[in-house]
Amino acid sequence: MKTDELHKSTVKLAPSILSADFAQLGKQVAQAEEAGADRIHVDVMDGHFVPNISFGAPIVRSLRPVTHLPLETHLMISDPDFFIEDFVRAGSDSFLVHWEGNSNLHRTIRNIKGFEKRVGIVINPATPAAVLEEILPELDLVLVMTINPGFEHQQFLPMTLPKIRRVRQMIEQINPSCELELDGGIDVTTAPLGVAAGANVLVAGSTIFHHEDGVATAMKELQAAIREADTKW
Ligand code: DX5
Ligand code: ZN
Repeated sequence: MKTDELHKSTVKLAPSILSADFAQLGKQVAQAEEAGADRIHVDVMDGHFVPNISFGAPIVRSLRPVTHLPLETHLMISDPDFFIEDFVRAGSDSFLVHWEGNSNLHRTIRNIKGFEKRVGIVINPATPAAVLEEILPELDLVLVMTINPGFEHQQFLPMTLPKIRRVRQMIEQINPSCELELDGGIDVTTAPLGVAAGANVLVAGSTIFHHEDGVATAMKELQAAIREADTKW
């Protein structure tokens, strides 16, 4: 085994295609896969739940045949239940649904599990970790937003770090196989902070797709930064 492999990080990277060049989407996703991405993060926005519009199930359908990676679908939309089946048919492998604004979250989770897909709950920066406690045994993932959702290339909010540590503790106590993912403002400086606080999956959009030397270089730099911080909590 090469030294590189021995020190391989257990932290997974989920490039967010919101920052990709849509005219070259297939190519850029292939580059991310080649560079070691674990999954592709697909940000769906309806201009209502968040003040921005992105794309819907057709993007998932187009990407499905061009990558082997799981397509993780982050639904920033007002009525996720209406659209789950569309995304499942298009090829989504997992769903991230927000705690905020969903008065029947348990039903949404059951709906997703009914399609035998992985499911995670997302909490915004102002939402406390405590809301996860009862539902945690049902989850495959928790995603802590480290920015307010809606736009790429925003600044990581350090106020989320104590919450990330709390969520990690809750996961260890209640459901240790649950993943802890962060989304927003992840770069070579903030990624190690998030990992040290307990995250094991990081979404990154602009850091990966806006790098002037390309996707592969960006992924390498991020992986190197994470390796440094990847000790056990
Ligand atoms: C924002 C999205 C994020 C976004 C992250 O609402 O959920 O996934 O693409 O972009 P960066 O990594 O540039 O902050
Ligand atoms: Zn996202």
